[in-house]
Amino acid sequence: MRTTIREIAAMKRRGERISMITAYDYTSARIVEAAGVDIILVGDSLGQVVLGYDSTVPVTMDDMLHHIKAVVRGTNKVHIVGDLPFMSYQASEVEAIRNAGRLLKEGGAQSVKLEGGRQVADTMRRIVQAGIPVMAHIGLTPQAVNQLGGYRIQGKTTRTAIELIEDAKAVEDAGAFAIVLEGVPSQLAGIITARLTIPTIGIGAGVHCDGQVQVFHDMMGLYTDFTPKHARKYAHLAELMYDAVAEYIRDVRVQSFPSEDESFTLSPAVLAELTGDPQVAAQGER
Ligand code: KIV
Repeated sequence: MRTTIREIAAMKRRGERISMITAYDYTSARIVEAAGVDIILVGDSLGQVVLGYDSTVPVTMDDMLHHIKAVVRGTNKVHIVGDLPFMSYQASEVEAIRNAGRLLKEGGAQSVKLEGGRQVADTMRRIVQAGIPVMAHIGLTPQAVNQLGGYRIQGKTTRTAIELIEDAKAVEDAGAFAIVLEGVPSQLAGIITARLTIPTIGIGAGVHCDGQVQVFHDMMGLYTDFTPKHARKYAHLAELMYDAVAEYIRDVRVQSFPSEDESFTLSPAVLAELTGDPQVAAQGER
């Protein structure tokens, strides 16, 4: 059995910090699970870091299902949250429930995440009532980039901070089991965390949240187009990979790759038959 939402809730009660990382494929999901992360988010950030779009807006249900399935195949124990992409839950509650259900039924995720506060609380409630655990996501909500006018920190004024506190309460009341706080001032995240019974998981929201989430490609130094202020690089894989590829190209050009050890050989007898030259066979025997 994978980590359940009850176990995640208990971590907050015990004061244990929750670690969440995004993953989008079999190989990285295996590594992330083996390292002991609490939750994997198959985020729609895959639109940028895997598919090369300039926002998460173009990501589809098919994209999400494709990547969620790969992550599920690479893991056994970890709780997997599947992101509902833009316009998969906004048009109607029925469509939202159906799409959320697909991420569990076809994808194999244990829960879904969707962006928004009070405006999506009713939809969230319906999805939870259908038996699908929901993680909420408020603050800087990337799917709303066109409405927010860019990737801006949210809740910096008294009015907008109060609105975010109300959003957080609304999604908790709607039955969300956890909430991502993205791009909000650290003190505001602390106030929200103290007022909610469900865990808060921050990204660019300071240290007072119950947990943290990072985008795999940011923390590995793999995505070089842009590094957000909140991202800490735990590795510099882009440089390592560049050097490895450059070395491979050099080795191919000077024929030092592949070596004998990396090659397969014919038996001397077959070689002699193929070439009709017994000396070739004798050489093969040496
Ligand atoms: O899609 C994603 O990776 C996310 C995180 C930034 C929380 O939503």
